[in-house]
Amino acid sequence: MARWRFNLPLLLLAALQPWLALAEHSFENTAIVRTVELGGALVHVTTTYAIKALEDGSSVYTLAIPRDEHQKTSWLEVKIKGQSAILPLDLVGQDIKTGILYYAAELPKPLKLNATTNLVVETVQTHATYPWPAEAGQKDPQSLKYETELLVLSPYVTAVQRTKIRTPSPQVHSFTKPEGLEAFTLEDPVTKSGATLTYGPYKNIPQSTSEDFVEDKQKRVTVHYECDFPVIEISKLTRAAEISHWGANLNIEDNIVLHNGGPKLKGHFSRLEHQSSAYFGRSPPHVIPGMTLHLPAGIQNVYYYDFIGNVSTSRLRTAPSVPKGSPSTQFSVLELKPRYPVLGGWNYSFTLGWDSPLRDSAGYDSKTGKWVVAIPVMTPIPSAVIDQAEVKIVLPEGATDFDFYPPFPASMNEVASHITYLDTIGRPTITLHYNQLTDKHSGIIYVTYRVPFSAHMKKPLAVATAFIGVFVLALTWRRVDTRIQRQK
Ligand SMILES: *[C@@H]1O[C@H](CO)[C@@H](O)[C@H](O)[C@H]1NC(C)=O
Ligand SMILES: *[C@@H]1O[C@H](CO)[C@@H](O)[C@H](O)[C@H]1NC(C)=O
Ligand SMILES: *[C@@H]1O[C@H](CO)[C@@H](O)[C@H](O)[C@H]1NC(C)=O
Repeated sequence: MARWRFNLPLLLLAALQPWLALAEHSFENTAIVRTVELGGALVHVTTTYAIKALEDGSSVYTLAIPRDEHQKTSWLEVKIKGQSAILPLDLVGQDIKTGILYYAAELPKPLKLNATTNLVVETVQTHATYPWPAEAGQKDPQSLKYETELLVLSPYVTAVQRTKIRTPSPQVHSFTKPEGLEAFTLEDPVTKSGATLTYGPYKNIPQSTSEDFVEDKQKRVTVHYECDFPVIEISKLTRAAEISHWGANLNIEDNIVLHNGGPKLKGHFSRLEHQSSAYFGRSPPHVIPGMTLHLPAGIQNVYYYDFIGNVSTSRLRTAPSVPKGSPSTQFSVLELKPRYPVLGGWNYSFTLGWDSPLRDSAGYDSKTGKWVVAIPVMTPIPSAVIDQAEVKIVLPEGATDFDFYPPFPASMNEVASHITYLDTIGRPTITLHYNQLTDKHSGIIYVTYRVPFSAHMKKPLAVATAFIGVFVLALTWRRVDTRIQRQK
């Protein structure tokens, strides 16, 4: 399992305790450094474990993640420092008493006695911050709170650990100064330098996943900080990707419900105040004035409308088509402006769509006789969380033997038939559902299918039939028309 979403049923192993007791002797943490990058909708946490094998052939390292942190985590990935391969990760179980979840990471090769390596655990947390105060005036700054547990827990002994919390700006209103840590440090338990808070170093921490340790020694830490960019939440993204061989076209249409997760606006919105602050380039951080999106290269017929109609204030710079499979990082840039500035607590729903030449994302595999089409899960929206996403892929009419390969498991898959105007038998559709997508989830879904030659022919036939139908209808109308006139 390369990429992990927490939608698997939890295994509660009765044998967890003995298993952990056994694991305890295989490693020691010589140092743990956790770095928390605070943001708005997303919080990125990177934890580096410098580990040493205490037994010959130690190959499975156990990670302990507290329940509360686990609930907020929507991305978890383990690598060896400096390497790009993602280590296989298995959820082992949850300790009912402490709530801690255990993951087993398999090292690329077993370590010899006293051998060392560095593991890098990367996670992304969503909805881990909240606005405080919960309401703010239009000109007020935006402040958020974040809470976390102080110590990184481990079933192994830890020689030294620290947690660094980085805030978006040095404006930190308050942060917890933990007490009762004399066992681990005689110095200041926390220091602040610019936009970084450092908790620790805390030394000689015993095996820390027991109920006693968690109750006695674990502390909660709260940081109250200023965030100078908006908390962008997409409550719902509905993407429809329609593949047409007849038109040699891939149409992608996104229905987006945008929500500003910042403090709710106190009082009335003043457009004048907004315009004047925008004029001075000081748009308040809790207003979403727009977003810059990177759309694929080679797109055409871009449309963007909301409940009132077309929105024409956005700017688009399209990049020319890029040959499939080339490593180019070209993209079209859309500066999307909502019809009105989206203030804290406000929503804005809109539809964004485009066409692109099918050859840019489709290939034909002559060995299997199947088409392969690449559909991006979503358009990445910088520092935004997507609470719910539904990606519907509409295959060409008559497609058979289809399969799909998502970049990470969906929470639910559906396969159905989709009937549009001019279709005679409907088109197979694949719908994937996801929750809590982040900037890490911009992967590609590959779909493969076969289209028999006769299916290509059905479309012209359907067009011909429809055309004749309209023609006959027109004739009938004329007849009706004349009959009425005759009656007069
Ligand atoms: C491993 O380290 C321990 C303590 O540092 C030392 O006593 C032991 O001799 C070492 N063993 C090997 C095989 O290096
Ligand atoms: C919206 O824009 C598209 C393309 O620019 C155009 O075809 C369509 O007629 C417009 N619709 C309205 C309601 O203005
Ligand atoms: C925004 O949408 C959410 C539900 O998605 C709703 O609860 C909330 O009231 C909406 N906010 C406003 C200001 O309409």
